[in-house]
Amino acid sequence: MGVITCNEDLRKLAERRVPRMFYDYVDCGSWTETTYRENERQFGRWKFRQRVAVDIDRRSLRTRMIGQEVAMPVALAPTGLTGMQRADGEILAARAAARFGVPFTLSTMSICSIEDVAAATGAPFWFQLYVMRDRDFVERLIDRARAAGCSALMLTLDLQILGQRHKDLKNGLTAPPRPTLRNLVDLATKPRWCLGMLGTRRRTFGNIVGHARGVDSLDSLNAWTNEQFDPHLNWGDVEWIKRRWGGPLILKGIMDAEDARHAADTGADALVVSNHGGRQLDGAPASIEALPAIAAAVGSRIEVWMDGGIRSGQDVLRAIALGARGTLIGRAFLYGLGALGEAGVSRCLELIHRELDLSMAFCGRTEIGRVDRSVLLPNDT
Ligand SMILES: Cc1cc2nc3c(=O)[nH]c(=O)nc-3n(C[C@H](O)[C@H](O)[C@H](O)COP(=O)(O)O)c2cc1C
Repeated sequence: MGVITCNEDLRKLAERRVPRMFYDYVDCGSWTETTYRENERQFGRWKFRQRVAVDIDRRSLRTRMIGQEVAMPVALAPTGLTGMQRADGEILAARAAARFGVPFTLSTMSICSIEDVAAATGAPFWFQLYVMRDRDFVERLIDRARAAGCSALMLTLDLQILGQRHKDLKNGLTAPPRPTLRNLVDLATKPRWCLGMLGTRRRTFGNIVGHARGVDSLDSLNAWTNEQFDPHLNWGDVEWIKRRWGGPLILKGIMDAEDARHAADTGADALVVSNHGGRQLDGAPASIEALPAIAAAVGSRIEVWMDGGIRSGQDVLRAIALGARGTLIGRAFLYGLGALGEAGVSRCLELIHRELDLSMAFCGRTEIGRVDRSVLLPNDT
């Protein structure tokens, strides 16, 4: 591939370089994938108000997310199995994020463990928590995140049960992949990936295997989730987790204004308007559609962020205009990682930064804090 000019270039390259089952794991939604597609599509409904003859010479995208200074209002979303997009993927992504000056969030379902990432990066990162039935294990995860110097805990509330993703079931998704004929044929066309995997010992769920009681090996994400994730999780548990953690808390997976009020009542620092990238409740609205009502309901009491479908700086600008104080990107950075490793994540961040900077300038603004609803035209459809 020639010059990489947009995130779509990174996606295409990742499609060529990442084994099919792991590429599919990223590029999929649940059931009909309607919500997954709508997350991207609905951004396009919002048109910018172009302004001219405004002095836009000096511009800055710097801002704060839960009080932490960031180079732009974008953080890397927690994503499971990131170390299967590329060997040691979580470490590579965390390093790229730290160098760029944006937060990295490590998933509970990561390949590299909390301790691995802490040892390899130096910069504090955020830890995303899933709540299991085994509450001792949950407490130990929280304690490990604190011991590793994580600077915020992101509690995901929308995945106590798993939305069905056809591709993962058909592909028999496991980490590491099983040596079936189909997988071996596929891997034979991905030599770069294979070489990387031969050079690392991190090939399964690093936060869980050897840590959760009775789990000495774990290859199937689906099986673990179905058995262990706790469907009892409720607002009372959120209070318990907040107390146990004692630091900045972000609640992820809010799609409803009433739930947003509950989230604000917990005293958490931020909430993320998110439908899990269209991977859980298919048929839910796009996140960008849900954002305005939630921002209106609780935006003065808790920081409101959003994720889902962000592929460009223009999308980030629309999200900020519609009331988000920050955003998360999932697939965009994963494609960069699968395509070019650490350099690909850096490239993705540079692209988004530049698109956001120029688009903001075209709208006549020079600071991210000055971006509001008025950079968009009315949208009555
Ligand atoms: C491959 C993949 C794995 C994910 N794993 C997790 C996870 O482990 N924990 C979590 O809270 N969210 C997870 N998510 C959801 C993301 O954090 C985020 O909400 C979503 O990716 C945003 O949509 P986008 O990919 O369109 O940017 C995952 C998303 C993807 C694409």
